[in-house]
Amino acid sequence: MCGIVGYLGNDRAYPILIDALKKLEYRGYDSAGIAIWRNGKIEVARKKGKVDELREICASGFEGTMGLAHTRWATHGTPSERNAHPHRAGDVVVVHNGIVENYIELKEGLRKDGHKFLSDTDTEVIPHLITNHLNKGADFAEAVRLSLAEITGSYALGIIHEKDRMLIAAKKESPLVLGIGDGEFFVASDAPALIGRTNRFIFLEDNDIAVMKDGSLRLMDVEGNEVERKVHVLHWSGAMAEKGGYKHFMLKEIFEQPMAISDTLIGRVKEEQGEVEFEELKLPGLKRIKRIWMVACGTSYHACLIGKQMLEANLRIPVEVDIASEFRYRDPIMGRDEMLILVSQSGETADTIAAMKEGKRRGAYVLSVCNVLGSTLARDADGVIFTHAGPEIGVASTKAFTTQVSALYLLMLHMGRKLGLMGNEVVRARIADIKKIPHKLQTLLDGAGSIEELGRKYMGFKNFLYLGRGINFPIALEGALKLKEISYIHAEAYAAGEMKHGPIALIDENMPVVVVSPNDQTYKKTCSNVEEVAARRGNILLFKDTDAHEMAAKANVVFHVPAVPYDLQPIVHIVPLQLFAYHIANLLGTDVDQPRNLAKSVTVE
Ligand code: M6R
Repeated sequence: MCGIVGYLGNDRAYPILIDALKKLEYRGYDSAGIAIWRNGKIEVARKKGKVDELREICASGFEGTMGLAHTRWATHGTPSERNAHPHRAGDVVVVHNGIVENYIELKEGLRKDGHKFLSDTDTEVIPHLITNHLNKGADFAEAVRLSLAEITGSYALGIIHEKDRMLIAAKKESPLVLGIGDGEFFVASDAPALIGRTNRFIFLEDNDIAVMKDGSLRLMDVEGNEVERKVHVLHWSGAMAEKGGYKHFMLKEIFEQPMAISDTLIGRVKEEQGEVEFEELKLPGLKRIKRIWMVACGTSYHACLIGKQMLEANLRIPVEVDIASEFRYRDPIMGRDEMLILVSQSGETADTIAAMKEGKRRGAYVLSVCNVLGSTLARDADGVIFTHAGPEIGVASTKAFTTQVSALYLLMLHMGRKLGLMGNEVVRARIADIKKIPHKLQTLLDGAGSIEELGRKYMGFKNFLYLGRGINFPIALEGALKLKEISYIHAEAYAAGEMKHGPIALIDENMPVVVVSPNDQTYKKTCSNVEEVAARRGNILLFKDTDAHEMAAKANVVFHVPAVPYDLQPIVHIVPLQLFAYHIANLLGTDVDQPRNLAKSVTVE
């Protein structure tokens, strides 16, 4: 779960690599390294810590027009300089994202041939394998190909050779993209890392090997057969990957939500006709779909919990929701007349990809809801709906979540029409509802200054409870996740009615209880739960959308959220909770965009 980047061209490689590496830091940041080729010599620098720490030891900078760089999230071997990439054997230098599963056997064999290892990583066997084949007479590209054939596991690789100005990239089960410039090539773990350098990309497929030399590109597979891949043009601008005056990406991304939701609607909603169409989607005969599964991880899983409620209530099709890491191992009872919806910002989460493979094996129709074009889930699913959130750089997911919920709402309307369950009038009205959301969110954000003060008031508490019901129970879960992951404060979420079955024992004046309480069909019930907290002197933070909330007087803090129709409530209710978590974390001085121990896309199990 690391970030890799490579460059071969006519410009100085160092600033290009460091700049892209900073953008990939969300993938891991316990150590970083760089290798620059110049006139038949490769210079390597590695450092425990973040890219900025690497930059400090490279103060003089490297000259040279080809190189590799890496930011690491440790799997095999502690975070340390000796385990940091690039790894080198003889003339060969490698950066790797993935896991070489058979590295112990390979290492034993290589040791017998006299190879010496300097790190505890699985990766280090790769340059040694390549050197072995070079020693036996293979040329560089062939030596790489033969080595890859010996590896089991996953890899995204950048490889260079001291005596040959050639850049090789290879991919299997870890993401890798080639950027095509004018007489220059880029390699990166994702396309956003290269925004501003090029907008032409090739998304490598499993077992692809790309050989770049003298302005030309050759693509082959591990068997040595030539392969062809399409060049995609992305319309993301450089400014989208900058902070644009905000202190953190997360804050910028929270404020981008009105625009991100508008972008997710554009071209799909036809209000006058009362239709929702997805250009990129060809659903199968929906009448035969007997059951829907929704599978994802983390924040995307919370979007699935909301999706379940929307789809079941409006389409009357049973929906099962699973955490991807559970789904893949639990032998799910799934058949051909079922649909599996995978939700993922990155499209590269290992467990969600494994769930896709499981669904396909069982013959289900697999649909992904993804933010990243060219990602594995976008490419390999039977159908894809893109959330047009733009690049999400903060590790804590914000705009990806609200666009996922928006996309699922659109899917619900699309299916409702196709199944004949909703007439044009109904869909027209519901399109009008979601079209109002960006404006309502903007108003909420414009008036959200008081949340920083709230953060100051509550930053000293060590535990929080979050409560919600119905479609807003997942919002309690997501609000608690946001607080945990960026402020490191313990937070738990419960369905409000469940509190009395255990967690109520925790409540006293030191327990802030965040209550998501819109005026919906469960409002009265939530009022009773608020009473129960108040009776035990719990510290209540009430997020409500009705002026006449019965419990407002019992709450320590009240925040008003715009009233919207039931299915859309999660989109407006999560925003103040995102800001609440953000301000607490910022005031506590944590690393908001790159919280400890986390990585943006979890590409290992
Ligand atoms: O890229 P994905 O949506 O598949 O990622 C899934 C989770 O790792 C992710 O949602 C994670 O929980 C968030 N970054 C938390 O804010």
